[in-house]
Amino acid sequence: MSKNYYITTPIYYPSAKPHMGHAYSSIIADFFARLKRIQGFKVYFLTGTDEHGQKIQRAAEQKKMDPLLFCDEISKTFRDLSQTLNLSNNDFIRTTETRHAKSVQNLWNILEKKGEIYLSKYSGWYSVSDEAFYSESEIEDVDGVKKSISSGSNVEWVEEESYFFRLSKWQDKLIDFYTKNPNFILPETRKNEVISFVKSGLKDLSVSRKSFNWGIKVPSNKEHVIYVWLDALTNYLSALNYPNESDNLYKSFWPADLHLIGKDILRFHAIYWPAFLLAADIRPPKRVFGHGWILSGDEKMSKSKGNILDPLEIIDNYGLDPLRYYLIKEVSFGNDGNISQEKLELCINSDLANNYGNLCQRVLAFCEKNANFEVPDKDNFTNDDNFVLDKYCESYNDLIEYSNNQDVNSYINFIVEQLFTANKYFNDQEPWKKKKDKFRMNTIIYVALELIRKVSIMLYPIIPTSSLKVLDVFSINEDKINFETVKENNYLKNGLKLNKLDILFKKIEKND
Ligand code: MSP
Repeated sequence: MSKNYYITTPIYYPSAKPHMGHAYSSIIADFFARLKRIQGFKVYFLTGTDEHGQKIQRAAEQKKMDPLLFCDEISKTFRDLSQTLNLSNNDFIRTTETRHAKSVQNLWNILEKKGEIYLSKYSGWYSVSDEAFYSESEIEDVDGVKKSISSGSNVEWVEEESYFFRLSKWQDKLIDFYTKNPNFILPETRKNEVISFVKSGLKDLSVSRKSFNWGIKVPSNKEHVIYVWLDALTNYLSALNYPNESDNLYKSFWPADLHLIGKDILRFHAIYWPAFLLAADIRPPKRVFGHGWILSGDEKMSKSKGNILDPLEIIDNYGLDPLRYYLIKEVSFGNDGNISQEKLELCINSDLANNYGNLCQRVLAFCEKNANFEVPDKDNFTNDDNFVLDKYCESYNDLIEYSNNQDVNSYINFIVEQLFTANKYFNDQEPWKKKKDKFRMNTIIYVALELIRKVSIMLYPIIPTSSLKVLDVFSINEDKINFETVKENNYLKNGLKLNKLDILFKKIEKND
């Protein structure tokens, strides 16, 4: 089995500053990247910005700026956000980079040579906001304005010479591909949507534009720029130095293991992308997962709706790890989720401060007072001890399954359960009453320390900064984290001096 893992976020339009929806895509991708790394995979994690097309050109025009300078400015806010979110990405690609243009033009040339692209004329509806073509049945009239039914964005009529990709030819081959790769599209409900869309009939796709020039030129006809989605999707290859197929990155990481995207851009990733690749004789990615939206009120956040939640504000007020924890736990992965201050505060108080923070503080304080702040000698484990410790071993295969199937919620539910169990164990065992039976008291401390170690390893992909502080108590640094050791019950060596732990999470006080 390959121990390499390539995971990507969508590349973001730098048409406006990043918002919570973007932060969500990136945080979830980072969760998987970190989880796979501690499971021993060599991970390549890519994110970046999607800088061409009419949407960006118009946004730059509005600001009376050169489009590249405009992109430089906003792309930087996305790059900065990846640092603020503590993303562990290996690369940040911009589609205005030369390395990317070379890849895109190469792919275009292959498709053209193979007869998959032809010149004709497009007339139909186009949404600049979605950078998408819509058929008559996909639009509606709202108070005299034509809009896309699925996204609600305005569409405009376009009539111009255009190159087309023979998408219709790939209809049956795509269905065959989905059948042979039943987990290519997840979650299941989205897969069904895609399959019925493909079965309803695919038309050839317009893949160039002539009426503006902000894009990568069609190599054989400089009057056309390549359709921004064909350009953008290729970022997943250009970051691996495609077309240099002997390049180590390409050899090691293509096909991608997981394109993590929002449900609104599934059609591009699950239909167009594999069709382009199959047509160019390049292996399609292994999986595309379409997550839900973070809603503001009941609506998707967007600049045009003016209902943007700013991740930086929340991080300033509550800290990064609470936001990461909240988004990963409280949004049912794959579905839409509503973010509220009240629920965020509840998460911080009950899960993070009470369940995790308190467990660590209590056990460590007790150990400091009664066991010299080192891992004590232990006696044989009792049934109670084995019961709590073995949970991780018994569930290990399930936990691996959860990470392979992107079952984020089961993964985190297991953690929450174990935090309750660990707290209950420490309460029920009452080590403070066992001071006369040093062996037993020390064994309880040992078990509690092991539980803290195990749960902190599991928490690392979710709240890396906080869990690393706890793991540092045991001198386990980031490079030493090994997911498999959650199965071990005797990992900690007696006599190991512990390091101090500061308060992990401050409770949010309510002033009624
Ligand atoms: N540039 C394209 C993607 C090209 S990928 C080859 C694009 N950019 S975007 O900036 O509009 O959106 C990027 C990602 O953010 C998408 O996956 C989208 O679903 C996600 N989100 C944007 N708003 C969102 C929410 N309110 N909630 C969750 N994610 C949402 O599309």
